[in-house]
Amino acid sequence: MIDLHCHILPGIDDGAPNLSIALDMANASVADGVTDLACTPHILPGLYANTGPQIRQATQQLQDALDQHGIPLRLVAGADNHITPDFVAGLRSGQLLCLAESRYVLVEPPHHVVPPRLEETFFGLLTAGYIPILTHPERLSWIKSHYEVVARLGRMGVWMQITAGSLAGAFGKSAKYWAERMLDEGRVHILATDAHDTKRRPPNLRRGQDLAAVRVGEVEAEHLVTTRPRGVLANVAPSNLPTPALASQDVAHAETTSVSNHGHEIKDRHAAQRRGDSHPQRGTSRWLRRLFE
Ligand SMILES: [Fe+2]
Repeated sequence: MIDLHCHILPGIDDGAPNLSIALDMANASVADGVTDLACTPHILPGLYANTGPQIRQATQQLQDALDQHGIPLRLVAGADNHITPDFVAGLRSGQLLCLAESRYVLVEPPHHVVPPRLEETFFGLLTAGYIPILTHPERLSWIKSHYEVVARLGRMGVWMQITAGSLAGAFGKSAKYWAERMLDEGRVHILATDAHDTKRRPPNLRRGQDLAAVRVGEVEAEHLVTTRPRGVLANVAPSNLPTPALASQDVAHAETTSVSNHGHEIKDRHAAQRRGDSHPQRGTSRWLRRLFE
């Protein structure tokens, strides 16, 4: 498995406070079955003033420590980039950081308010050639009142990353509900730990994969933790990676097809899935082309 969101770098945000805890987290990840891990500390001006060059250096230092201790985990640099209006400029200047120098970039919006021009920011990233990955939408307090915004971002080509612990109820009932619903509706691309330590928020990707498999099947669960993350590390275009599968209809929430105002979209995708068309929404490029035709 590959974990694309983890606060393992010691002493630079609210994740691992020191090298000893970072090594414990690395050992726990390896024991869980993780082979590759993205070091993604917060970048939040005024609170966590990390930059691309600092994170790359800290990642290499931790990799050296892992190698010295014989811990078989390959690290890549990334960041939990909090949303800013000048996001594309931040990426181009190196202040913000993509995952493993790829086109994929974690984007974290504010938890309690929908930021102004949210969709414009994501649109700007997509048109600049990046694939934004919205981090843990299921834990945002505004998801209930603005679910249509999240759904629109997904249709636009934004990827969604759910937290493994959300499926286990570690972030409460609401986060569990939205994580399951988004999975059932085929809106989730990546499952990651967002681990911060070994106790309160530990690496738990295997448990997340198992819980996801109950809803969307073993194959899609594998895509969530291995196929798509591997594609991200290799900078594969999203159109060449599997589209998220829907839950089987007997598992899916009843409101997915009856109450939800996305019912038609979900029914269409169920029909496409039955036909064996694995790419009913063929990625960003077609969507972008349509916009400019
Ligand atoms: Fe995070």
